[in-house]
Amino acid sequence: MKRPRVFVSRVIPAAGLVKVQAACETEVWPERLPPPYDVLREKVRGVDGLLCLLTDRIDGELMDAAGPQLRVISQIAVGYDNIDLAAARQRGIPVGHTPGVLTEATADLAFTLLLAGARRIVEGVQYIRDGKWDTWEPETLLGADLSGATLGIIGLGRIGQAMAQRAGGFNLRIIACDPVLSDEEIRGRGAEPVELEDLLRQSDFVSVHTPLTPETRHLINADALAAMKPTAVLVNSARGPIVDLVALEAALRQGQIAHAALDVTDPEPIAADHPILSLPNVTIVPHIGSASVRTRDQMAGIAANNLLAGLRGEPLPHAVPAD
Ligand code: GLV
Repeated sequence: MKRPRVFVSRVIPAAGLVKVQAACETEVWPERLPPPYDVLREKVRGVDGLLCLLTDRIDGELMDAAGPQLRVISQIAVGYDNIDLAAARQRGIPVGHTPGVLTEATADLAFTLLLAGARRIVEGVQYIRDGKWDTWEPETLLGADLSGATLGIIGLGRIGQAMAQRAGGFNLRIIACDPVLSDEEIRGRGAEPVELEDLLRQSDFVSVHTPLTPETRHLINADALAAMKPTAVLVNSARGPIVDLVALEAALRQGQIAHAALDVTDPEPIAADHPILSLPNVTIVPHIGSASVRTRDQMAGIAANNLLAGLRGEPLPHAVPAD
């Protein structure tokens, strides 16, 4: 029987790639940077399956360029805001993603950012590199205590909930808002339900864990930042465009909030000479929430399983949820 043709838009861990290669005629994009959109459109012509990354724009035009035989799109990520789901649905193409396995790693990273912001870790490292560590000083690099402080979690899904679990261990009071959960469900997940406005006003730490949707784009804008405490630390490990980076830079410069600790930015990647990077009170890492060895292996395995199930015409083990 003819083996299905697939395109894999980057080299992924062998835990998934080997399975795909064993079952399919596989072309893997070999470069470090993603294929440009026009190149991807050419590469998918005639494929039966596509394994893609969050850096690929997957829209109706690309699906049509692939052709009517395209029967599965498998993304190696939990988020899928780069994929036009309505276009996939219209064409009857199932879309898979990799939820669950990256929850703990991403919450670990979010909590690392929270701690790094609270205790000014990056500033401390820079302080030594700048040759400023001359003595122990009573009032230098003072940060914020976690114990007894309030953490506001925006979006109490899997990762938000894992963040709440970590925060409990550090004796933080946890408040949360989530448009799809009832107050009861929020309490069941270990947080006190509040409206977004109250969350912003009350929190010493605000951590964003919501998907990027038209409703959440620039959810953290100038008004939201103005509502936050001047001592607050903002953590974003979800998607860059949820935070208006221009407004954030202004808020940090004006001392409207104390620190921003980000795993994601808009634009992403952020240029090395972006002015926000010259501020002392930002900690930015390059979208590494799920970047642990075990987690990436598991993501690759799930992405391969989704792809192969779709090629066989079976339900995907991890299809993106229907609206
Ligand atoms: C990473 O950001 C993911 O969505 O998996």
